[in-house]
Amino acid sequence: MEDQLSPNQVLATLSKHDGPILTAQAFPSISFVKVKSALDSLKSREMIIHSPVEREEVILTGEGEGVAEEGSHEAKVFEAVRAAVDGLKIDDLPKMVGNESANVGKGKALKAKWIKMDQGKFRTSTDSITDITRDQLATIRKSRSYPDPKVVTDLKKRKLVTTQRVISFKVDKGPNFSTEMVKEETDLTADMLATGAWKTAKLKPYNFKAMGAPAMSGALHPLNKVRHEFRQIFFEMGFEEMPTNKYVETGFWNFDALFIPQQHPARDQQDTFFISDPPVADLPRADPPAASSQTLPNGSPSSTPADKTATSSTSTPKDPKERPLDYDAYFKAISTVHSTGSHNSIGYRAPFSVAESQRLVLRTHTTAISTYMLYHLAANPRPARYFSIDRVFRNETVDATHLAEFHQVEGVIADHDLTLGGLIGFMEVFFAKMGIHKLRFKPAYNPYTEPSLEIFGFHPGLNKWVEIGNSGMFRPEMLEPMGLPREMRVYGWGLSLERPTMIKYGVKNIRELLGHKVDLAFVEGNPAVRLEKD
Ligand code: PHE
Repeated sequence: MEDQLSPNQVLATLSKHDGPILTAQAFPSISFVKVKSALDSLKSREMIIHSPVEREEVILTGEGEGVAEEGSHEAKVFEAVRAAVDGLKIDDLPKMVGNESANVGKGKALKAKWIKMDQGKFRTSTDSITDITRDQLATIRKSRSYPDPKVVTDLKKRKLVTTQRVISFKVDKGPNFSTEMVKEETDLTADMLATGAWKTAKLKPYNFKAMGAPAMSGALHPLNKVRHEFRQIFFEMGFEEMPTNKYVETGFWNFDALFIPQQHPARDQQDTFFISDPPVADLPRADPPAASSQTLPNGSPSSTPADKTATSSTSTPKDPKERPLDYDAYFKAISTVHSTGSHNSIGYRAPFSVAESQRLVLRTHTTAISTYMLYHLAANPRPARYFSIDRVFRNETVDATHLAEFHQVEGVIADHDLTLGGLIGFMEVFFAKMGIHKLRFKPAYNPYTEPSLEIFGFHPGLNKWVEIGNSGMFRPEMLEPMGLPREMRVYGWGLSLERPTMIKYGVKNIRELLGHKVDLAFVEGNPAVRLEKD
């Protein structure tokens, strides 16, 4: 069966007809899609005009196909009777033509007077017959239609044909009709200009409706985009970025230095991922001189508390105003403030375990880094603003809004005589820059801040208050062992990067944003910029 149709075939067929043609009749075996594509290419050149026509198509059933091939049941009966030498015994008919043809065919052959019954035998009543049914089905098979609707109704009743509604096209010659489709030029070439071919060339018109080719480009993950926004806000507010390039911390920097009691439930297996190999690090000490190329804002080299190559517990400052950092003394001061209390605090009055301090953990918050930075700041106390945006780990049950690892946005401000009012005022400015204008503060508890405030923002889209952050003024028990002067106050706050990203990008499940379930199409397909700020 032919199943291709070239535009030139359509033109040839059309030129043989005076009037319009119907594709279903002219090309009955070509699929709709192929017909349409041939017509479309001719239509764009205005060589034809066409319009869709809905019509009823008649097609043969399986049984109908059989009749068209082998003849009708009644014709088979007639042939069998004619072939018998002296009539055909009624009971022998099924043997000759099969049960179905015998049952259906004998009545019809009798009614048409092709055969008659004579003493228990069938005999022919005529010499020759015309198998009309077969002829009708042959016609239908070719043209999928039949001129006399009564015949179609009758054949349908006999289940030899069925009908279905199909779209075909009425096609007529267009203003540019010709029998040959000229290839249209898509480019005006130097050659065409040189030979003069451009004068007669048919140029293909521009298709301004064509879709552009998809651009192969990289895409930033939404978390990266929102991170970028936060970084811009921090930089324009005078913050310096903290070096957060390590995931593993000691219990000392993650908990102890923050005055988090060693018996605190957050240190349980429940919330913290402990490292098993190696399980512990050395006590805090200064970095070896060439340990890191990264320079901290206050000029001292960044330290890796777990770095076993470090040998000294003091560091020599470059700035003459700076006092040397004495890690041994700091560690002792922290152990004292926990166990017996100091700096006007009664402490936790529980033994302080050095082993607990040395345990290695995946950092549960970036406040470990802030603490480390503040300790370095204490060597030369002065107003400072630090921020970081990086990954933290918590041993939590994963659900639509919680992951065991996520990103924390953290800021700390150190200055003389800071107040709680100042913290609230700062939060209002900071979050307004993210498009969050209505804030509420709720008293909360952190072991390392007092007072502590949970921050809620009103989300107009969700029409409710959502928790957006945690904040507070760092406790003297944390700041004074570092050597920061008493009138130097520090406040800090932290929030997840995921929460605002989910709100801004309409992501309902955090697992679609981070982790192995992230769909690359989502990353590639989301807008490069968001024009709204809310
Ligand atoms: N560390 C806190 C948290 O993980 C955030 C915070 C930082 C709170 C600094 C107060 C001060 O939620």
